[in-house]
Amino acid sequence: MNRLADFPRKKILVSPSLLAADFGCLESQITQVAAAGAEMLHLDVMDGALVPNISFGAPVIKALRKKSSLYFDVHLMIEHPLRYARMFREAGADLETFHIECADDIDAVIAAVHALGADVGISLKPATPAEAIFPYLDKIDLVLVMTVEPGFGGQSFMADQLPKVTAFRREIARRKLDVRIQVAGGVDGKTVGACAAAGAEIMVAGTAVFRHPQGMVAAVSSLKAARSALDADLH
Ligand code: DX5
Repeated sequence: MNRLADFPRKKILVSPSLLAADFGCLESQITQVAAAGAEMLHLDVMDGALVPNISFGAPVIKALRKKSSLYFDVHLMIEHPLRYARMFREAGADLETFHIECADDIDAVIAAVHALGADVGISLKPATPAEAIFPYLDKIDLVLVMTVEPGFGGQSFMADQLPKVTAFRREIARRKLDVRIQVAGGVDGKTVGACAAAGAEIMVAGTAVFRHPQGMVAAVSSLKAARSALDADLH
C-alpha cells in the first residue's frame, strides 16, 4: 500500500519513528519492525533550523527505500519544505508531512507535494493552536499533532496536547473530511489509549517500539491494543 487511502479507517496504525532505531543496522531494524506488524515507517527529517537538531536526509531514505515496502511517512521538520519536496519524493516518500510553522507558503507546499503524487500532511508544535491548520484541512490527507516539542525522541508525553486531537476530530467530522489524525512524541502502551480515545488513528512511536524491553512484537501489539477504544466508535 502506498497511499493513505489504501489503509483501513478506525484501526490503529503504527508508524515507528526511525529516530529511536540503532543507526548502525537500519536495514535489520526496519525488517524487524515490519515483521512486528508496523504498517508504516516514520522518518524524522530535521534541519537544525525549524527544530534544534539534525537527523538525516534524502540519501538515507533513498537507501532504505530499496530495502522496505513499508509506507514511508516522512516528517519534514524543516524550514523550507517547498525546496525539498521533490528530493524526498524521489527518495521514496509516500507521505510528506511538513510544519505549519515553516517559512514557506502553506498552499504552495500542499500543491507541490500532491503534484509529485505523494500524500501530504501538516504538523504543529505544542504552542500552535489547532485552528491554525483548520483552513487547510480540506486540502490535506493527514494532520500530525506533536505530543512533545519536536526535535528529539525519548521525551515525556504532553497530555495537554490531546484536546487538539479532539478539536481536529470534531472539525473533520463536522466538515465531513477524510483526514487522518496522527500523534507523535512519548506515545507508548500507557499513553496510546488516550490518543485513540481523543481520535488519533496513526501512532508514531520511537522509543516505545525500538527500545521496548520485550521487543518490537510486544511493542507494536501494545500500541494496537488501543483499538478497543477506537472501535467504541468515538468518532
Ligand atoms: C520528535 C519526532 C518524533 C519522535 C518520537 O521530534 O518527531 O517522531 O521521534 O519518538 P518517541 O516515541 O521516542 O517520543
